Amino acid sequence: MKLRISVLPGDGIGPEVTRQAVAVLQTVSDVCGYDFRFLSHPIGGAAIEQDGTPLPEATLAACLDSDAVLLGAVGSPKFDHCVGDMRPEAGLLALRRALGGYANLRPVRAYKATLDCSPLHEDVVRDADLLIVRELLGGLYFGQPRAVEAGGLSAFNTMRYDVYEIERVAHIAFEEASRRRRLVTSVDKANVLETSQLWRRTVSQIARQYPDVRLDHAYVDSFAMQLMTTPSRYDVVLTENLFGDILSDEAAVICGSLGMLASASIGGRVALYEPVHGSAPDIAGRGVANPMGAIQTAAMLLRYSANLCEEADQIIASVERTLANGFVTPDMTGRRKRVPSTTEAVGESVVETVTDLLQRQMAFHAV
Ligand code: NAD
Ligand code: IPM
Ligand code: MN
Repeated sequence: MKLRISVLPGDGIGPEVTRQAVAVLQTVSDVCGYDFRFLSHPIGGAAIEQDGTPLPEATLAACLDSDAVLLGAVGSPKFDHCVGDMRPEAGLLALRRALGGYANLRPVRAYKATLDCSPLHEDVVRDADLLIVRELLGGLYFGQPRAVEAGGLSAFNTMRYDVYEIERVAHIAFEEASRRRRLVTSVDKANVLETSQLWRRTVSQIARQYPDVRLDHAYVDSFAMQLMTTPSRYDVVLTENLFGDILSDEAAVICGSLGMLASASIGGRVALYEPVHGSAPDIAGRGVANPMGAIQTAAMLLRYSANLCEEADQIIASVERTLANGFVTPDMTGRRKRVPSTTEAVGESVVETVTDLLQRQMAFHAV
C-alpha cells in the first residue's frame, strides 16, 4: 500500500495538531509495512508570508498530484485586515473548489469515557452518533454575483443551488445512511428560501432511489435547538454549505470540544481531510491544542482514500482508549476535572495505543 499525502499544516494550531496526525499515520505505515509518503506545503497565512498568496501554485499542483490532502487550519489575526482573495481563508476555499470534494462529512459522536465533558446532561448526549453531510462547493460561499458596493456602504452575496449540486451530495448522504442507521434528516429553510424549496424537492426525489432509508425534513432554526435537546434522534444530517458550517460547530458541544471533530471532503478529484476547528489563535503556540480532531481526520483519510478500514477503526479505538485513560488536553478536562496533558502527550498516547492494537491485530491474522 503506497500513499502520497500532501500535508498543509497552515496557521495557528494547524501545525501543532497536524504533526500528531502525521505521527499516527506514520505509525500505521511502519507497523503494517505500508509506504506512506508525506510532503508539506504552505497554505493560508503561512503561504502569504512565504509566497505572497494564500494558495501558491506549487501547493495546488502538489495537492492535485497526490492521493490525499491533509490540512491543519488556516486563518490568523495578522491577516484579518485583508480582503477578498488575499485572506488566508480564500486559499482554503480555492483549494476546496480545485480539488472538487463537494460532500463534507463531519462525524459527531459522544464518547463513553468523556460524556461529562459536554456541558449538556450526560443522559442527553449518551447515545449521540451522527454524521453531518455538508454541501461544500455551493450556496453563499461561491454564489455569483457577490460584491461590496456604494463605496463600502452596501454588500451582497448570492445563495444559489443547481439541481445537480443537490443531487450529488444527497446521493452521498443516502449511501452513508444505508451503512448506518438508515435515517437522513435534511435541514433547510424551505419556509422562506427558494434555494431551500429546491433543496427539499430534490432531496425528496433522490430519496425514492433509497427505499430502505427514511427521510425527514427539518427547518434549520428548530433543528439547531433539537440538536442540543435530543441529539441521539439523528443519524445522517444533510444540509447546505453555510447551515452545515454553523451546525457542525454547534454539534461539537455534544462531545465537549470543537477540537474533537474530524472531516473529509469527498466526491472530487482528490479528497481533502481537515479537522472542523480553525487555527485557534487564542491558544496557538502553547502546546495545548486538542489533536483528536486532526487524528480522527487521519483515520477518515485511511478509510475514504485508501480503504484501510481496519486501520481507521484502530485509530478511533486508540482515541477512545486514550480518552478513557484520562489523557486529555485542557479543553476536555470535564466535570471529572481530569489533569490536562499537552498536545504531544495526548498524541504520543494515541501512537502507543495504535501500535499495540495493530500489532495484536497482525498477530491474530497470522494464526
Ligand atoms: P476556531 O475553531 O479556531 O476556535 C474556536 C474556539 O475553539 C477557540 O476558543 C479555540 O481555542 C477552540 N478550539 C478550536 N480548536 C481547538 C483545538 N483543537 N483544541 C482546543 N481548543 C480548540 O474558530 P475561530 O476562533 O472563530 O477562528 C480562528 C481562525 O480560524 C479564523 O481565522 C477562522 O477563519 C479560521 N478557521 C479556519 C478553519 C479551517 O482552516 N478549516 C475552520 C474554522 C475557522
Ligand atoms: C470550516 C471553516 C471554513 C468554512 C472557513 C475557514 C472558510 O469555518 O471549515 O468549517 O467556513 O467552511
Ligand atoms: Mn466552520
